[in-house]
Amino acid sequence: MNQELKERIKQMKEEKDAIILAHYYVDGQVQEIADFVGDSYFLAEKATKVSASVIIFCGVSFMGESAKILNPGKRVVMADQYADCPMAHMVDLESIQEVRTACPDVAVVCYVNSTAQIKAASDVCVTSSNAVKIVDNLPNKNIFFIPDNNLGRYVAKQLPDKNFIFHDGFCHVHKSIHKEEVLRAKEAKPGALVLAHPECTEDVLLEADFVGSTSQIIDFASASDCKEFIICTEMGIFYELQMKNPNKKFYSVGHRQFCPNMKRIKPESVLHALESLEPEVELEEEIRVRASVPLQRMLELAK
Ligand code: 13P
Ligand code: SF4
Repeated sequence: MNQELKERIKQMKEEKDAIILAHYYVDGQVQEIADFVGDSYFLAEKATKVSASVIIFCGVSFMGESAKILNPGKRVVMADQYADCPMAHMVDLESIQEVRTACPDVAVVCYVNSTAQIKAASDVCVTSSNAVKIVDNLPNKNIFFIPDNNLGRYVAKQLPDKNFIFHDGFCHVHKSIHKEEVLRAKEAKPGALVLAHPECTEDVLLEADFVGSTSQIIDFASASDCKEFIICTEMGIFYELQMKNPNKKFYSVGHRQFCPNMKRIKPESVLHALESLEPEVELEEEIRVRASVPLQRMLELAK
């Protein structure tokens, strides 16, 4: 990356007392300039621990919102104003209300990939790294899992004693990874292990040797004795996989493993966010306070 740009970002970070958090799906060049890179659980938790007064968030809106919900005193600035996760908008308040009316003892379990308004109407948040553990520990037998249908079904499979109501939300990136492509990749690389994110469809997950969040996929590949892996998630993860494992080989299964929202963020947009401290994440205080309850509960239950 341009050395001058890198220096300027470093200088602005000091000047503005800022820290850069980035998700594994952003461009490798952005991961390179970040102070911390992680999965969505790590980033939400890390945001509660940093001492800097400004957080520059290199990820999609719901991630920046979670950081703000948990840290009202900090200025949270998105590296790109339009980086948003379509899945976060797939569930509405009416569907939650309908299920609550029909099933009063239900726990509304909200995947963090959702808006602050939806979190505010939920009982607990989860990420892909802790969903099974958290749902398992809920006292409720009836679970309404929103919005991701694939993650919901994956969790339900591990917890047969609970009754699940699913929503029909999905991630277009993971949904576009097809079983046929995975089978072709396996045929081409018979020694490789298949690692998949639980947002993938069930038929893809059935072909996987390991299913986990982005961090868990990286940890699994790094600890494994195997030298080759077929990766079923967004391609940004290859940067950290390859950095941590220079002697291992990672293969994608197609050309659609690309989240256009995450890829909006460039080092130049990070510099602009640092200079202008805009766009800042702003939330109605009433929503923020209500949304903090299921998020705090997640942090407690995930420990
Ligand atoms: P992780 O929690 O695994 O980082 O996933 C976030 C995400 O958006 C997956 O598409
Ligand atoms: Fe949303 Fe999918 Fe992009 Fe993750 S990869 S941010 S779920 S669109």
